[in-house]
Amino acid sequence: MKRIGLLTGGGDAPGLNGIIEAVVRSLREQGVTVVGIQDGFEGVFEGRTTELTSGIVDGAHQKAGTLLGTSNKSSTQGRVEEFQKKFASLQLDGLIAAGGDGTFQALGRVIHGLKIIGVPKTIDNDLAGTDLTFGFDTACAVVAESVDALRATANAHRRVMIVEAMGRTAGWIALGGGLASYADAILIPERPFDRKALADFLRHRRAAGHRGCMIVASEGVAAVGEKASIAFRVPGSPQAERFGGFSEQLARWIESEVDWESRHVVLGHLQRARHPTTTDRFLTLMMGYEVAQMVRENDWNKAVVYRDGQVTRAPLSDLMKPARLVTPDHKWVQVAQSMGIFI
Ligand code: F6P
Repeated sequence: MKRIGLLTGGGDAPGLNGIIEAVVRSLREQGVTVVGIQDGFEGVFEGRTTELTSGIVDGAHQKAGTLLGTSNKSSTQGRVEEFQKKFASLQLDGLIAAGGDGTFQALGRVIHGLKIIGVPKTIDNDLAGTDLTFGFDTACAVVAESVDALRATANAHRRVMIVEAMGRTAGWIALGGGLASYADAILIPERPFDRKALADFLRHRRAAGHRGCMIVASEGVAAVGEKASIAFRVPGSPQAERFGGFSEQLARWIESEVDWESRHVVLGHLQRARHPTTTDRFLTLMMGYEVAQMVRENDWNKAVVYRDGQVTRAPLSDLMKPARLVTPDHKWVQVAQSMGIFI
């Protein structure tokens, strides 16, 4: 009987529990035992595992977080031999890893001699090799619902309200959530904005009689010729610099430059904390099913990905390529422009 390991690495994303439940349920039907590795790579180094029984996983799909725990700090850097030794001692026939760029970079170092199936995961939607990652739709829903709610207070007080979305160097969440809520302006890192053009846009809106104005800003955005705002650093993390502070600075700048009262809201980890949307649930259900087929067919060192509207398979190395960013002329950018949204 096969024993397969399953770990979740990097920042959590809504849908991780769905992947766990879908994988375990379909592999259980094949008589495969799934061993959950706790807290990402830490569980391998420290030998912390737990057998994933139906009592543990059934019904988990509806919750955010990951029942296995995760870490976006642990890595295999400088610990390749140790990892391979520790992994061998777990006596597993293969490993299913759900993670983001940090997880796959780390696995890239130790892949030799291992059987791995990769599952792309990040709310940022910026992982190479797949058109979509689970967690993204849920994060966009949080942004869109927040913009819709905050518009009421922005209009009541005649204010510009800036909603800061996550996403690191990628603007997918701000763009997706901002479009879904018809925000007035969407600022993303891939399109550094012109300060004068934004100030003119706001003055024009106010002159046209708009009481409030909703801006969605990606945490990693910067004006033309400026640098993104870094809030703090996390030593040892594959993503050491954490963005933050932009929306507050922008609010003060709008007040002084445009003389329009402004407030900012940083949505932060609420974007990762909502229960997954139906779209994310379907995606993890279909990916979990596909992973189980790959195990049954012994089709290792591949990733399950979403391409051209289908869940399919791709070389694992596809997930290790540079981040997938919004192209400046992306269809969603064109749609925003055609709606009169500042982008
Ligand atoms: O990569 C996912 C993400 O949520 C980013 O959008 C964000 O910048 C970062 O993780 C936050 O990381 P942490 O949970 O360490 O604060």
